[in-house]
Amino acid sequence: MSEQFYSDARSYDRLFPRGERAVEFYEAEAARQGGSVLELGCGTGHKLIPIGSHGQSCVGLDLSTAMLAEAGRKARERRVEAEWVQGDMRDFDLGRTFDLVIIASNSLLHLHEPEDLVACFRSVRRHLAPGARLVFDVFNPSVRMLAQADGARRRRDALSFVDPGRGVVHVDVAETYDAAAQVTRGTWYFSTDTEADFTVAPLEIRSIFPQELPLLLSLGGLRLVERFGDWSRAPFTEGAALQLCICEPS
Ligand SMILES: C[S@@+](CC[C@H](N)C(=O)[O-])C[C@H]1O[C@@H](n2cnc3c(N)ncnc32)[C@H](O)[C@@H]1O
Repeated sequence: MSEQFYSDARSYDRLFPRGERAVEFYEAEAARQGGSVLELGCGTGHKLIPIGSHGQSCVGLDLSTAMLAEAGRKARERRVEAEWVQGDMRDFDLGRTFDLVIIASNSLLHLHEPEDLVACFRSVRRHLAPGARLVFDVFNPSVRMLAQADGARRRRDALSFVDPGRGVVHVDVAETYDAAAQVTRGTWYFSTDTEADFTVAPLEIRSIFPQELPLLLSLGGLRLVERFGDWSRAPFTEGAALQLCICEPS
């Protein structure tokens, strides 16, 4: 449902250009584990290319060929060795194990059904070498924030970006929250001053609530060993922005 959102990889990188603290966090986890790293939902390699630049063996898996092509282009430009694989994080077999598996920036939330999340965790489990870990981040759903998804189209000034061909691109978003499915269903509108809605793309993101997260992991053969609430490794609390999860085989 969200594939179109990732079909223009360069615009994706312009839309979300920051995230240095997240990169530093995943670099530190990779350095601590040492060895090989697999990222599921790797996108354009925002986390994996910096990790690969330190010489660690890296594989990025993503559903989107457009995102993978941009990841490969950026890696070549920066002379970073990495392997880019098209696949579905729910069911993949790379025929080898890794010392660290990461799923960064809410990529996991593209899986909406509990069965899909468990299938992903089982696939991860099969790819963990002895002593390996799964590390991932998802947002911490606040009921107040979810209730603001009232279907109204609103401009997000902070997301405006400059496209070399088009000039300044404005971004509007309309979202509703499907409480039964725990999915926020968004429509993203991209416009310039002269070209309204030149791209309109759906983006659907699940919420994983704090109490269900360890249960889903355990069904996938994994155990939540630590959960942080932000990139500085502050403890996870009710008001935390993130669920930054460190997991091991159970
Ligand atoms: C929010 S982006 C994050 C990209 C990258 N991890 C980062 O930190 O910048 C989510 C990525 O997950 C990918 N994705 C969505 N569903 C997927 C699936 N079932 N299997 C593999 N990748 C998937 C999308 O194509 C997209 O590249």
